Amino acid sequence: VPMAETTLLVFRGDRESGKAVEYRVPFAPGMVVLDALHLIQARQAPDLAVRWNCKAGKCGSCSAEVNGRPRLTCKTRMDSLPRDKPITIFPMKAFPIIKDLVTDVSWNFKVNRKIPPFRPRPDVEWKMYQRDVDRVQEFRKCIECFLCQNVCHVLREHGKEEEFGGPRFFVRVASLDMHPLDDVSRASVLKEELGLGLCNITKCCTEVCPENIHITDNAIIPLKERVVDEYYDPLLRLVRKIRGA
Ligand code: SF4
Ligand code: F3S
Ligand code: FES
Repeated sequence: VPMAETTLLVFRGDRESGKAVEYRVPFAPGMVVLDALHLIQARQAPDLAVRWNCKAGKCGSCSAEVNGRPRLTCKTRMDSLPRDKPITIFPMKAFPIIKDLVTDVSWNFKVNRKIPPFRPRPDVEWKMYQRDVDRVQEFRKCIECFLCQNVCHVLREHGKEEEFGGPRFFVRVASLDMHPLDDVSRASVLKEELGLGLCNITKCCTEVCPENIHITDNAIIPLKERVVDEYYDPLLRLVRKIRGA
């Protein structure tokens, strides 16, 4: 009995040029997209560039666009995808291609450097309530897969890399700002350097997060409220005062 096969269209190329190349691989129940890519590497294209490390959904290295959706290839089962047409596998669109499925995500680490680190309040007792631990713990689950960065239209379509930090870094700021012992105000960084105002709450980031972090509701919206409180409320108060209202 011939083994079932499945067809993949995998992007091959670099920043200058490239095209989708067709490969056929045997299909086994339970296999994930990364398994199929490894089969292609082993049998047909040893020079296929694929980044991965853990194969367990924890290192955030294997991000790509599978059938046009940003996914971890090690967590995407082949049997969850329609098999009546080829499965397309493309590199993340928001980042420059290095080769094939590997993109240069180093821009993210530059953004990270704009964020002032945790600084504990002096002279306070280090005592935390469970609800505060739980709140920041959600943000600390981030595996830096950058799928949220890849899907956010501000970075994907509008080339705002200089002005906009992206959802991953709003999650990071939230993890610091919502820590009860932290003493730094990051409102000006959020507004001036990370461009939080450019986010119009489309929630696409939240939909693709493999760690199920509620990026929009739990990080971005509370941070927007903090920026409003720090920037606009004092001004409104002043305006009201001047008007004698
Ligand atoms: Fe990935 Fe979620 Fe972290 Fe974004 S917030 S980088 S989608 S784990
Ligand atoms: Fe982008 Fe997420 Fe905002 S997708 S626009 S950061 S809600
Ligand atoms: Fe580590 Fe996929 S290989 S998350």
